[in-house]
Amino acid sequence: MSDLGHRLATGFAATFGGEPDGVVRAPGRVNLIGEHTDYNDGFVLPCAIPVETRIAWRARPTRQVRVTAIEYGGETDMFDLDAIPHHPGGGWRDYVRGMVSTMMAAGATLHGADLAIVGDIPRGAGLSSSASLEVAVGHAMAAAARITLSPKTIAVQAQAAENQFVGVKCGVMDQLASAASVAEAALLIDCRDLATRTVPIPADVAILIIQSGVVRGLVEGHYNRRRAECEAAAAAMGVAALRDADLAMIAVSNMSAVLAARARHIVSENARVIAAAEALAADDLRTLGSLMADSHASMRDDFGITVAKVDDLADIANHAIAELAHGEGGARMTGGGFGGAIVAITRTDAALAVAEAVRLRYRTPSGDVPDVMIVSAAAGAGPM
Ligand code: GLA
Repeated sequence: MSDLGHRLATGFAATFGGEPDGVVRAPGRVNLIGEHTDYNDGFVLPCAIPVETRIAWRARPTRQVRVTAIEYGGETDMFDLDAIPHHPGGGWRDYVRGMVSTMMAAGATLHGADLAIVGDIPRGAGLSSSASLEVAVGHAMAAAARITLSPKTIAVQAQAAENQFVGVKCGVMDQLASAASVAEAALLIDCRDLATRTVPIPADVAILIIQSGVVRGLVEGHYNRRRAECEAAAAAMGVAALRDADLAMIAVSNMSAVLAARARHIVSENARVIAAAEALAADDLRTLGSLMADSHASMRDDFGITVAKVDDLADIANHAIAELAHGEGGARMTGGGFGGAIVAITRTDAALAVAEAVRLRYRTPSGDVPDVMIVSAAAGAGPM
């Protein structure tokens, strides 16, 4: 049994006694390209990664939900399905409570359950550990109630839980990537109608996730400000969302230089996502790499969500790929911004050398060698 599986089985037995009825999993994600486009009704290209949240569940003949979070030192929670308030301490408990509450509000007939949670997604690393927790709770509660919900339904409810219960105004990308991804592929998502297309990732392509070590400070404030700027830019051009704008409309509008720059990022990023999906499908890593480098520059210059250390790290990775992988691939910051990780794509046979070069040339703010994960795309959430 894997380490996660072992911890889950022993944690479940120690807390609730006996064995679970089933186990579900939901992966973290990395976004290959398409940043801050999701809440502008645009396009994103994430994939699930092989770190995940797992929940062992057992139905209960009562209206009570009992929960233990094994990696939080076995912290527990308990609530009644008929009245789900916020937990006074917030934290992981509100992701569980929020998801269950949102499912009920959407009309699901749920039953009581015992849930034991484990996971190996590094928290605060921009790999969507919270989205994966919400999606895993959705699967576990649906399984305990013997109902089937589509990946899209679970993702939309998970996003609503985060927006309305937890209070983070995120888009739908993280939850949908966790819920609906396919192994060995990226997921092209149209965030307006949630249509998805899987884009196979060739077997000799590696994905590197490299942590800058810059802790993302005040992320929510920055994130919500960018969201508001995008809405203001769309309103200034008289469109429903920046998805509907183009560069010519921005050029003739009379909005401020800052709003125009924000809009330029979203409009150009949407085009890059579509081009990147085509390049990936065609195994054209040169084009994909230059789109990734352009995406980084746009996040830095127009959207204003990078920081100097992350710019350095992306430069180092792009140079390493140019030198060691003949320019086949590229790198960019991934996720909400203001720190966090970069994602790099290159050929598998160059991945270790690229990782080594970056580990040699970059230091985190505290002087450490950066963490590098080399992954391939994992399957989306479901029963195990
Ligand atoms: C966070 C949000 C996503 C998305 C990204 C930026 O991860 O949760 O919805 O907006 O930032 O692309």
